[in-house]
Amino acid sequence: MVTVTEALRQRISIREFQSRPVPQALLEELLDRARWSPSGGNLQPWKLIAVAGAERAAVMELARTVRAAPDAASEEGSDLVYPPNLWEPYRSRRYKVGEDMYELLGIPRTDRAARLAQVARNFEFFGAPVGIFFVIDRRMGRAQWAHLGMFMLSLALVAVERGLGTCMQEFWATLRDSLHRHFGLPDTDLVYCGMSLGFPDTTAPVNHLRSDRAAPADFASLRGF
Ligand SMILES: Cc1cc2nc3c(=O)[nH]c(=O)nc-3n(C[C@H](O)[C@H](O)[C@H](O)COP(=O)(O)O)c2cc1C
Repeated sequence: MVTVTEALRQRISIREFQSRPVPQALLEELLDRARWSPSGGNLQPWKLIAVAGAERAAVMELARTVRAAPDAASEEGSDLVYPPNLWEPYRSRRYKVGEDMYELLGIPRTDRAARLAQVARNFEFFGAPVGIFFVIDRRMGRAQWAHLGMFMLSLALVAVERGLGTCMQEFWATLRDSLHRHFGLPDTDLVYCGMSLGFPDTTAPVNHLRSDRAAPADFASLRGF
């Protein structure tokens, strides 16, 4: 069994998966473990929809249809992905992880078509057999969004424990309204983020991407020690 520290280090974003299915019982086990995440007031403000098989295929088809529509440029929830005009150090961090990924994939900056094709792999869950959509009640505030994030990480970590990989996917937010309609959700619900879940293809170069992290001294101010 991996330690928490090992699970944190081993969890990386997986962007190529084996076709091997994830049994329902295994997903249920992961959810049963992840639900012990904390939340303010124990609100547990997370909901999710997991799709496999025909339901997964239907979501992928929805993405194809919406993206192919003439007004596809109007992204539905992109405002919630990054703040506009990212500033330093965030701008450079985002740039670097992207460039490192495309280098591993052997896609140069000039090959815009290949880069777009890689981005579009988001809408195929990078080949993962399970897609997950995290849903939150839109009346919830920033605090509850943070708590949903804790749940998402818990799920990603218990997935590592069972040899599974994940990629969180805010990219699905660009189809937020379409997904909302597709799943027949009540007006109060909002689709925040997606996640691919499956067994990693360890032979795929893209899965060898090791992103950087700033040192504690760069983000932590320890006072009174
Ligand atoms: C909430 C969230 C949403 C993300 N959305 C996407 C996404 O849509 N597509 C993608 O390829 N990666 C996505 N990522 C992965 C990040 O790019 C990745 O976590 C970051 O670069 C650090 O790399 P690591 O996960 O391998 O440690 C997301 C990560 C998080 C936490």
